[in-house]
Amino acid sequence: MSVSADTRSKTTIVAIDGPAASGKSTVSREVARVLGWTYVDSGSFYRGITWKALHAGVDARDAAAVQTLLARSRWAFPLRDRSVVFTVDGEEPGDALRGPEVREAVSDVAALPDVRAFVNAQLRAMRRYAPLVMEGRDIGTVVFPDADFKFYLDASPEERARRRARDLAAQEGAVDVAQVLASLERRDGKDSTRREAPLRPASDARIIDSTAMGVDEVVALIVAVVRSGGDAI
Ligand code: DC
Repeated sequence: MSVSADTRSKTTIVAIDGPAASGKSTVSREVARVLGWTYVDSGSFYRGITWKALHAGVDARDAAAVQTLLARSRWAFPLRDRSVVFTVDGEEPGDALRGPEVREAVSDVAALPDVRAFVNAQLRAMRRYAPLVMEGRDIGTVVFPDADFKFYLDASPEERARRRARDLAAQEGAVDVAQVLASLERRDGKDSTRREAPLRPASDARIIDSTAMGVDEVVALIVAVVRSGGDAI
């Protein structure tokens, strides 16, 4: 696939999908920074809806209640420092998005079809901020099947658990890697087996196994592919 420099500067979309703790966020943010493009963390919107539900005392698995809450809340998706952020009823959850309550409930919320339809509509409207790098689970398969570049970033479950444990230890103190692995596998299981938009690589995605790769190496590979218009290995 080849994209001219002109087209690339206006509408290009880079989709980076993959399981939890595959390094997607760090890599995607850095790819966007290097290219000078807009960064979108689609998972943060699923987390934001989960946070709002928990905050409002709504059961995250109650589809009708979550849908009512979605419709009643005021959502905005402004651009800040070249990243798309969001506010709900004028509030920003901040670090609570990454906290344990949201983390454990978010897979249930992300499995609700109405929630996915709402988030997908918002994500597609972000084309106005292109060129952009969007990370998630279904960006290359469902949100932007016509994305110019699709990557699927993976790593072994053990390596992903080690990475996640390292991040968590920095935020929350000592953690048990075996427990982190169990929690990751539970979430991966839910994300991969749900009926709507299950986690899987797009048939035309480049699969990158980062188990033995550093962040810089993965970023360099993706940037090289994008800059070459898709011709780099
Ligand atoms: O990437 P993350 O860990 O912040 O994602 C949070 C949850 O949202 C996770 O359960 C997967 C889900 N998600 C999704 O279903 N589709 C996306 N495009 C992004 C995230």
